[in-house]
Amino acid sequence: MTPTNNPFLADFTSMSSHGATAGGGVDRQAATVADGQTRNWFRGLVEGHGFTVRYDAVGNQYAMLELVPGAPWIAVGSHLDSQPLGGRFDGAYGVLAGAHAAKRVQESLAGTEGTALFNIVVINWFNEEGCRFKPSMMGSSVYTGKLPANQVLETTDPAGTTVREALEAIGTIGDFELPVAAYVEIHIEQGRSLEDRGLSIGLVESTWGANKYEFTVHGDQAHTGATVIADRRDALLGASALVVAAREIALEHSTKEHMVITSCGEFTVFPNSPVVVASRVNLLVDVRSTDPDVLAAADADLHARIAKIEQLANVRIERGKEHVWGAKAYDAAGLELAARAAASLGLSHGVVRTLAGHDSTNMKDIVPTIMLFVPSVEGISHNERELTSDADMLKGVDLLTEVLARVVRGEFISPSGVVEEPAGDSSLVS
Ligand code: GLV
Ligand code: MN
Ligand code: MN
Repeated sequence: MTPTNNPFLADFTSMSSHGATAGGGVDRQAATVADGQTRNWFRGLVEGHGFTVRYDAVGNQYAMLELVPGAPWIAVGSHLDSQPLGGRFDGAYGVLAGAHAAKRVQESLAGTEGTALFNIVVINWFNEEGCRFKPSMMGSSVYTGKLPANQVLETTDPAGTTVREALEAIGTIGDFELPVAAYVEIHIEQGRSLEDRGLSIGLVESTWGANKYEFTVHGDQAHTGATVIADRRDALLGASALVVAAREIALEHSTKEHMVITSCGEFTVFPNSPVVVASRVNLLVDVRSTDPDVLAAADADLHARIAKIEQLANVRIERGKEHVWGAKAYDAAGLELAARAAASLGLSHGVVRTLAGHDSTNMKDIVPTIMLFVPSVEGISHNERELTSDADMLKGVDLLTEVLARVVRGEFISPSGVVEEPAGDSSLVS
């Protein structure tokens, strides 16, 4: 099947032209012109299929398909923004898959009055990536009450533009509010466990825990030639030692059962000039693990090393904002439902955990949530070479449609919000 004769693949190709990069990826950082174009493209697409589109106070985009007037809403979604020089699939696949699945569910229910107990809203969450504006998962954090809207609207990018200004500039801000009863998300795995196991679908049972910290290393600006080593307070040396410490912590604290993953993803040197010892470095360090105790020990080690680095480099290290989430399970009933749906379609599937954060990481803390993965070729992500095959994308849309149909028929939660007991007769791996 070529991309042009399959409606999902044709739409995916068209969506990927917004913010397209020379290397085959996309660059659509939150509330940039490219993000705005993608949001408008999505709006046009879904309005053409009978959805109604609205924005809330922090730019979350809601595409509603009403099946039963007055009934509660089931949300399906992900994000259309990307990392700088990011991939075409991360987030965007899930939003488009949600829209196609919703439409297919509506069509399949036509003429079956009384079968649907819920309406469907596809949500494109604002700023999942957290690169232009920190932290990540921003729109879903406001929706789930973890961040105040006002604080988010006043958050600035490196050029000093606020979220409010950026959203107003692309015209995707409003005052809409919509409570939802349950949430479903499909995403690319961004790792290679599905590919290694030869599986088409991942049923996400839980998140890894993550602690992300913004650090500022304070030194003193000086001449790189004229200032003797003993007199230096080199912020770049201190920051570099922190980056190395983070890697050592990952190696030393990982156990056979529980891996520790650490990174420095952002590193900004001031004044960053050839003959100047750095006065200041801002950096972001994250520490992740599947186990809360292992994470806590790795985190404590990171903090213990800070005092040593301060001495070594003669600098002061200040910890700024943090963004943390726990290793936490998704609803068992949702996992079972998704396994039954995958089995009914003959799709190979297995249980996975997610190392990456997603909007479902937030949503699962307030409503029953189902999270699904499709394979990523070689696990490559946050990279223009990110890839999921057409066949795997289509299997994911089929599964999402089946899962959504079951949820809309009341097989996950009742209209009063009670989670249905897992039937216990499904195999989570097959
Ligand atoms: C997402 O925000 C992540 O850090 O994985
Ligand atoms: Mn994502
Ligand atoms: Mn991402």
